[in-house]
Amino acid sequence: MNATAAPITLRPMTTADIPRVIEIERQSFPTTWPVTAYKQELEQNQLARYILAVMPDTAAASPPPARGLRARLRRLLHRGQSVPAPAERIAGYLGLWYMIDEAHIVAVATDPALRRRGIGELLVAEALELARARDAQTVTLEVRVSNTAAQALYEKYGFRRLGLRKRYYTDNNEDALIMTTPELSDPAYQARLAGLRRARERRAQEGDRNGVHVPAC
Ligand SMILES: CC(C)(COP(=O)(O)OP(=O)(O)OC[C@H]1O[C@@H](n2cnc3c(N)ncnc32)[C@H](O)[C@@H]1OP(=O)(O)O)[C@@H](O)C(=O)NCCC(=O)NCCS
Repeated sequence: MNATAAPITLRPMTTADIPRVIEIERQSFPTTWPVTAYKQELEQNQLARYILAVMPDTAAASPPPARGLRARLRRLLHRGQSVPAPAERIAGYLGLWYMIDEAHIVAVATDPALRRRGIGELLVAEALELARARDAQTVTLEVRVSNTAAQALYEKYGFRRLGLRKRYYTDNNEDALIMTTPELSDPAYQARLAGLRRARERRAQEGDRNGVHVPAC
């Protein structure tokens, strides 16, 4: 199994994940949050949820067996004992804030080496499900007007353009496009999300992308 065919699962982010998330953030955005901001988000912000898409790190999980008498003795002594869980690779992350009656996607990015394999959409789909479970009416976000890849992802999941926040991004004074979903409880929108879920499952079965399976956050 190569890295891109590995199954993807979702789990909540913990403080131990901060360095890797910042690495993906650095590869994805012109500016990054400091470690302290993530710690605060994870430990103190009751209204924030951070989810990760993870996959088995096949390279780290199966190092070549150590050679030599001492290594053989160690293997013999530990035979029958439980094998440590395989290492995992963080493939992407998403941050969600629950507001009064809406939820806000504050961050989403995937490992540049693993893009266009359905990981971004898996994270967005999970955010929509989490928001619905919290009785949010809609999910909103800001996106750079130049970021057509992200806009295409959001449009696929039914987000519509609501307006602009002028000069929202301080690094280059770029405008932000505000995008929002239809009412999450709208049966037509739920039918669209169900169709997208079936398409993700079908593609996973066909193996043309990651073996993405059901979100488990
Ligand atoms: C935006 C981002 C999260 C997408 O992640 P991803 O894992 O590559 O996305 P997916 O493979 O799940 O793509 C899902 C859909 O998004 C759209 N999409 C994603 N990347 C695209 C691209 N480069 N060009 C056009 N459409 C794109 C497509 O509609 C795609 O569906 P399809 O594969 O059926 O065509 C990723 O490009 C990223 O991390 N970018 C940098 C950070 C960023 O811009 N975050 C958003 C901030 S608002």
